[in-house]
Amino acid sequence: MAELIYLNGRLVPLGRVRISPFDHGFLFGFGLFETMRAYNGRIFRLEQHLERLSKSAGELSIPLPPFDLATACYDTLRANNLADARLRLTLTAGPGEALPDPGTCTGPTLVIMAMPNKAPAPEKYQQGYCAALSSLRRNSQSPLSRMKSTCYAEGILARREAHHRGVDEVVVLNEKGFVAEGSSTNLFLVKGAILVTPSVDSGILPGIARSVVLEIARAAGLKSEERTVLLSELTQADEAFFTNSIREVVPLTVYEGRPVGQGRPGAVTSHLAEAYRALVRKETGAGPA
Ligand SMILES: Cc1ncc(COP(=O)(O)O)c(C=O)c1O
Repeated sequence: MAELIYLNGRLVPLGRVRISPFDHGFLFGFGLFETMRAYNGRIFRLEQHLERLSKSAGELSIPLPPFDLATACYDTLRANNLADARLRLTLTAGPGEALPDPGTCTGPTLVIMAMPNKAPAPEKYQQGYCAALSSLRRNSQSPLSRMKSTCYAEGILARREAHHRGVDEVVVLNEKGFVAEGSSTNLFLVKGAILVTPSVDSGILPGIARSVVLEIARAAGLKSEERTVLLSELTQADEAFFTNSIREVVPLTVYEGRPVGQGRPGAVTSHLAEAYRALVRKETGAGPA
């Protein structure tokens, strides 16, 4: 549990944090968040996370607070004496009238929390995830699908479905029936020597880990395609994997009870997972995982 919380420019003990019940993040889920991972005291791809946040904040007309967000993240990490951590930054439109009109808000609310990182069990990386199809659909026409919005109830429902189905993750399609992403992950397929992932206009969150994987693939000369993806391509893929900033690259080896490819983490997935960790080590100075 985080002990010192960054709230609007100050580090405050958890028990003394006060957020207005009129906050539009609380009343309407009108806000944004970022979940970031720190290794060895360095926040991996912090600038990219903050860029995504500020782009979405601009689209929602949520003003950015007058503090340096990167400094605020590091202050929170250090104040909690953490080196390997999960950071959660939340930015909402702030307190206003109890009406769905953020024009009444007096200024944004910024909260940053740092917690020890809980990585998934190593077996999950060795055996891969089992996934099932979600009954939920992502709306590719909604701008919120492309943002890390605090309006996250659908993500919770999708996660709950995974739990009820006894799987690690669900695959969520968009309203047109094309593959979008996982409940809290992006999805990649490997077909022959080509990496395929749903395009942002499929209704996905443009994940930071996703962009890191695409960057690694580019540098390695591995061809990648961001496009519309059919569900049949997943069932016929040679390999598949999920990504997110906390879990990095996790193989998807079983889908709806059937093996994906050989039913074990494939060579391309393992190579990308290792290259991701190598990049983390290079950029943060972290030791081997
Ligand atoms: C819906 C959704 N898609 C994808 C991701 C992966 O994003 P990132 O790589 O930025 O962690 C997340 C992260 O939580 C998510 O909630």
